[in-house]
Amino acid sequence: MQRPVFAANWKMNHGPTEAREFMTSFLRYYPRHSDRQVLFFPASITLAAVVDALKERTDIRVGVQNIHWEDKGAFTGEISAAMARDAGAHLALVGHSERRHVFGETDAETGRKVAACFRAHIVPMLCVGEKLAEREAGETESVVLRQLRAGLADISAEQVAHLLIAYEPVWAIGTGKTATPEDASRVHQVLRAELRALAPDKYSAIPILYGGSVNRANATQLVIAPEVDGVLVGGASLDAEGWAAIVRA
Ligand code: 13P
Repeated sequence: MQRPVFAANWKMNHGPTEAREFMTSFLRYYPRHSDRQVLFFPASITLAAVVDALKERTDIRVGVQNIHWEDKGAFTGEISAAMARDAGAHLALVGHSERRHVFGETDAETGRKVAACFRAHIVPMLCVGEKLAEREAGETESVVLRQLRAGLADISAEQVAHLLIAYEPVWAIGTGKTATPEDASRVHQVLRAELRALAPDKYSAIPILYGGSVNRANATQLVIAPEVDGVLVGGASLDAEGWAAIVRA
């Protein structure tokens, strides 16, 4: 098994001041571990504070929560992958469920964003996941496969080998309802089989993370489930001590 990935998505929480306080505390609780990878996705406006707080901790990587698909131009309020990279980001979330379902991001847009990440030498973490009604209609597989194929449509097989995937069922995000480790494994297997078709040489090394109401009590069971290579955590990553307990477990 590869090194598990523990990724914190802070969403619209923690400005620069709170982030600095968080990191002072978190780094005390979390000494360097070479057998796991820790990632933070702060708000863009907080990125510089987090990058600065982690300058001695090159074992921890930082990313942004969203980018625009164009490299530059008249797109008020947006940031490009190149700008994120220049500010110290190594990764970007693409197609997070809140981008898709609150802000109306389409499958085609996620594909353009993934391609923009590669142009800027940023690693995309493509998020996929079905809504409750889709799950109840037995459409989980078809939805996540459609999102995966669209997200990877504009990149080469070589590039596919260099990204991360997060499976986040929409009904599990922020609801306290977690997929069981068996549920997560089953969907990850479906995603893995598709990655195999897209990148036959490298598919087994592509991390597939699970996200959706991961907390201290359930994180370990999810991380050790077959085909689950890590977790993408919202609410439970906001408290430094609690998040350190999850990543140290
Ligand atoms: P919660 O952990 O708060 O359910 O959020 C999950 C998520 O959306 C992470 O990207």
